[in-house]
Amino acid sequence: MKICIIGSGYVGLVSGACFSDLGNTVTCVDINRETIEKLNKGIIPIYEPGLHELVVRNLKKKRLLFTTDISSSIKKSDIIFICVGTPTKNNKADLKYVFNVTKSIKFNLNRYKIIVTKSTVPVTTGDKITKILKSNNNKNKFDVVSNPEFLREGEAIRDFQFPDRVVVGTSSNKANKIMKKLYLPLIKKGGRYFHTSRRSAELIKYASNAFLATKITFINEIANLCEKSNIDVKEVAIGMGLDERIGSRFLRPGPAYGGSCFPKDTRALVSTGRMFKTNLSVVKSVINSNDKRSNLLLNKISKIMNNKIKNKNITFLGVTFKPGTDDMRESSSLKIIPTLSRKGAYINYYEPTGKKKEFKSKNVNFFENIKDACKSADLIIIHTEWNEFKQLNFKKITKKRNFKVFDMRNLYSTSEMKKNKINYFSIGR
Ligand SMILES: NC(=O)c1ccc[n+]([C@@H]2O[C@H](COP(=O)([O-])OP(=O)(O)OC[C@H]3O[C@@H](n4cnc5c(N)ncnc54)[C@H](O)[C@@H]3O)[C@@H](O)[C@H]2O)c1
Repeated sequence: MKICIIGSGYVGLVSGACFSDLGNTVTCVDINRETIEKLNKGIIPIYEPGLHELVVRNLKKKRLLFTTDISSSIKKSDIIFICVGTPTKNNKADLKYVFNVTKSIKFNLNRYKIIVTKSTVPVTTGDKITKILKSNNNKNKFDVVSNPEFLREGEAIRDFQFPDRVVVGTSSNKANKIMKKLYLPLIKKGGRYFHTSRRSAELIKYASNAFLATKITFINEIANLCEKSNIDVKEVAIGMGLDERIGSRFLRPGPAYGGSCFPKDTRALVSTGRMFKTNLSVVKSVINSNDKRSNLLLNKISKIMNNKIKNKNITFLGVTFKPGTDDMRESSSLKIIPTLSRKGAYINYYEPTGKKKEFKSKNVNFFENIKDACKSADLIIIHTEWNEFKQLNFKKITKKRNFKVFDMRNLYSTSEMKKNKINYFSIGR
C-alpha cells in the first residue's frame, strides 16, 4: 500500500519505518526541514533503540522516503496518517497542528483516501476533521478513521511490531477492510484487531493513559503511607500484583509521572469530560496528586540533606522521564533540578543517551560518564531507571566520604546498602 505519514516525530517516524518494513511504500512528511534533511541522510533525530537500523534498511530499499512536500505526498498515497503533536493549551488538547494538516489534505484529495488519526485526539475530533474535508466538494472521496497509537518510547519498535491490540474506529466497512489488510502481518503475529466506532477509539486511548497514570499515582500515594508506617512498598506492590485483577505492572513508585503523554492526556480527558458535562473526579485528583509529587520529593531531598542544600554537590543519574528515550517532555527533573539550583546546589547530571539537555538554571552541568558526574557528589539521585544504574559500586564512583544516595526508583536492596554502610534513601521503604 502507499502510505503517507504526516509528522515524523516519535510516533510518525516509528510508524513510518515499521510500515515500510512490512513492504509498504511510505512517505514521511514533516514541516521541519532539518529533521527531513537528517532523515534522508539516515541520521535519526531522536533516541529510540533499533530505529536507526530500521530506517536505513528501508531507505536503501527505497520503500521509505522523507520529504517536506506535503501536497504530492498526499496525492500519491492511499492512506494518510496524521501523526503531529497534540500538546496541552489551556488544559485542553491543542489541535491546531491536526487541523493545519487536515486543511492540506482537503486540497489534495485527488481520489479516495483513508485519513487516519494516529495522534492522540479528543472525542469528536474525527467528526471535526470530516466536516473540514467535506467543505471542498470532497464527498465520497475519503473516510476518517481513528487508529490511536499505544507504543511506548524506548520500546517503540517492539510495541509497534508486536502490539497487544490495534484499535480501529470507523463506521465505514470499506475503510475497516483496508485497515485490517494493512495490519494483517501484525494480527498474524498475535496482535488483537479491535474494530469499534470512531468516538470509542478516540476515548479508548485517553481512558487507557488515564488508567495507567492512576495506577502510578495510586502506588506513589501508598508509598507515602508506607514511609510513615514502616512498611516496604515493594512488598505491598508484590502482594497486590499477585491478584490477577490488579496485575503487577505500573505498581512501582517513583517520581511524578511525566513524558509527552500522561500529563497532557489526563488534562485533555478532564476537558472532554467538561465538554460533555461529566465530572471525571478520579482523573482530576490523579492530576492534582501528581502535580504535588515533585514538591514532596524536594522536601524529602531537603530532609535527607538536613536542610542544607546550599553549596552541596548533587548528582542526577538520568534526567529523562523514563529509560530508553531522550524525551524530556514533562520530566520531573525539569521541576526538581531548577529548584535545587535556586537553593544554591551545584548539579551534575549524567545522561545515558549522551545528549545534553537544556537546563537554563545556574550551576547545572552535563557529564558524559558516571564517574566524573559522581566524584564530588554529596548526594547521588537515581532519577531514571536505566539498566546501567542497577549495579553501581557507589564507594568507587564518588570520592566524598559522607555521600548519600537517594534512589527514586528503588533499584537497590535496603539491607544490602545497610550492610555496605551506604547512607541510602529510597521511596516508600
Ligand atoms: N510519543 C509517544 O510516546 C506517543 C505515544 C502514543 C501516542 N502519541 C501521540 O502521537 C502524537 C505525536 O506525538 P509525538 O511524540 O510523535 O510528537 P513529536 O512532537 O515527536 O512529533 C510531531 C511532529 O509533527 C511535525 N509537524 C507539526 N506540524 C506539521 C505539519 N503541519 N506538517 C508536517 N509535520 C508537522 C513536527 O515538526 C514534529 O516533528 C501526539 O498526539 C501524541 O500524544 C505519542
